[in-house]
Parts: sequence; structure tokens; C-alpha cells
Amino acid sequence: MIHDFEGKVAFVTGAAGGIGRSSALAFAARGASVVVCDVADPAETAAQVEAMGAKVHAVHADVSDSAAVQRAIDAAVTAFGRLDYAHNNAGTFAVAPLADLDEADWDRVVRVNLTGVYLCMKYELPHLLRSGGAIVNTASIWSFQAADAQPAYVASKHGVVGLTRSAALDYGTQGVRINAIAPGPIKTAMTAAVPDDVIAPVIARTAQQRFGEPAEVGEAVVWLCSPAASYINGAVLPVDGGYLAT
Ligand SMILES: NC(=O)c1ccc[n+]([C@@H]2O[C@H](COP(=O)([O-])OP(=O)(O)OC[C@H]3O[C@@H](n4cnc5c(N)ncnc54)[C@H](O)[C@@H]3O)[C@@H](O)[C@H]2O)c1
Repeated sequence: MIHDFEGKVAFVTGAAGGIGRSSALAFAARGASVVVCDVADPAETAAQVEAMGAKVHAVHADVSDSAAVQRAIDAAVTAFGRLDYAHNNAGTFAVAPLADLDEADWDRVVRVNLTGVYLCMKYELPHLLRSGGAIVNTASIWSFQAADAQPAYVASKHGVVGLTRSAALDYGTQGVRINAIAPGPIKTAMTAAVPDDVIAPVIARTAQQRFGEPAEVGEAVVWLCSPAASYINGAVLPVDGGYLAT
């Protein structure tokens, strides 16, 4: 029973591929209906969820746009009548040392990675307070360390940890748990864009000496949402093959 999400509804951002697609599939595997949200087209994820026999609703939204986030969450609740779980996962990055980073890139990365998580939680919480649900935000190993030439990404992901802890404290007595995951190097479109000489030392520092698969992260997300994690709140779970331990 601990992974029985029958009759529950999950909302996943950044669901067009990678980690978000995997958590959408993991929610579906446990019987949840899933709302897949992305600024790109999440149709392929929606098709995969449907092929598993789960109900799915696809919404197009930019998580950095307050009105769009509100509309996406309204659409989710209209489609399925309730909201139980949210995986706030959409993310982006910009590579440049601080003095060379365009202000527009700083604004974009912080707006998507940090403000986007705030906006999603802001509009998810009224529904989760009714259902007694759970939120998982996507942080990173770069929430705890610096990465070369990634000031906006590192700062935004540090911020996701603070935001997660703060929200967990505010809503802990009201039946909503709020946690984060901190993925290490995961094989997705995001890391495919990183040069080999940059990603190889990161993988070499993991205890397991390999990339993580998106599905290994999706499983951690749904477990954090499940009743099995009922006393886990304000936590940041590394899903990093032991990177942060080394
Ligand atoms: N892959 C890794 O190694 C790794 C490690 C740590 C953290 N992360 C984080 O995991 C999350 C998912 O990344 P991924 O690795 O699956 O990469 P990905 O590129 O496959 O997925 C990111 C998704 O976010 C979507 N997105 C980007 N900006 C958006 C916006 N403004 N509104 C809505 N959707 C938007 C993209 O369209 C994409 O589908 C990100 O937050 C990323 O920072 C990834």
C-alpha cells in the first residue's frame, strides 16, 4: 500500500524529457494521474504515461511566468479535480564566470530555477493543503558546492534548498511535506550539452563511477511523496551516486 497512488494527481514541471519525464512515469506506475508541464512540448511524455494506462493532461507553461503557472495549476485541477503531489523540476543554466555573465542570463536562470519553484509552490499549496499532499523540488549537487563558471545556476540551486526548508517549516503542521532532491550527474539533455572534459571529473568523483539514469531520480521523487517518507520534511536527498559523500 505504501506506493499506492491510485486516485491521486501529480503535477510535474520540466516534464518534456529527462528527470521530469522519469518522475511523471514513476507517478503513473503507481496509479497516479499525471499533469505534465513544460515550456517545450511534453507530448512524448504524455504518450508514454498514457501507454502505461494512466490518465495524463499536458500543459504548456513557462515556470518563470506567474500567470502561466497559475493557469497551468488551474488546468491541472480542472482536469482531475484535485492535486496531491508536485515535482517542481524545470531548470536551465548559463555558462560564464561571473564578470562575463550577461545580466539577462542571470535573470533567466534565477527566474526559472528559483523563482519558478516559488511560483509553482505558491499556486500548488492551496490545493495541497486540501489534499494533504507533498512537494519535491529539484535542487542539485551544486546546491552545496560551486561548479566552474556557473554562478547563476549554483546560486539558484543553493536558493532552492533554502526555499524548500523555509516552506517545509511554514506548512509542516498543516499536513504538507516539502522536500528536495539533489541529483548528481544524470544522463539527460542537460548533461549532453556539457563537454566531456567537464562532466568526466564529476562522474569520476561519484562513488559509483557512472552517470545516473533519470529513472533512478524519478523513483526517489515518488518515494519522497509516498507515505513511506511520512516523517521526512525539509530534507534534501542526494541522488548522486555518492558524489557529495566523497
Ligand atoms: N541532469 C543532471 O545532471 C542534473 C543534475 C542536478 C540537477 N538537475 C536538475 O534537474 C532538472 C531537470 O533537468 P534535466 O537534467 O532533466 O534536463 P532536461 O533539459 O532534460 O530537462 C529540463 C526541462 O525543463 C524544461 N524547462 C526549461 N525551462 C523551463 C521553463 N522556463 N518553464 C518550463 N519548463 C522549462 C525544459 O524544456 C526541459 O524539458 C533541472 O532543474 C536541472 O537543473 C539536473
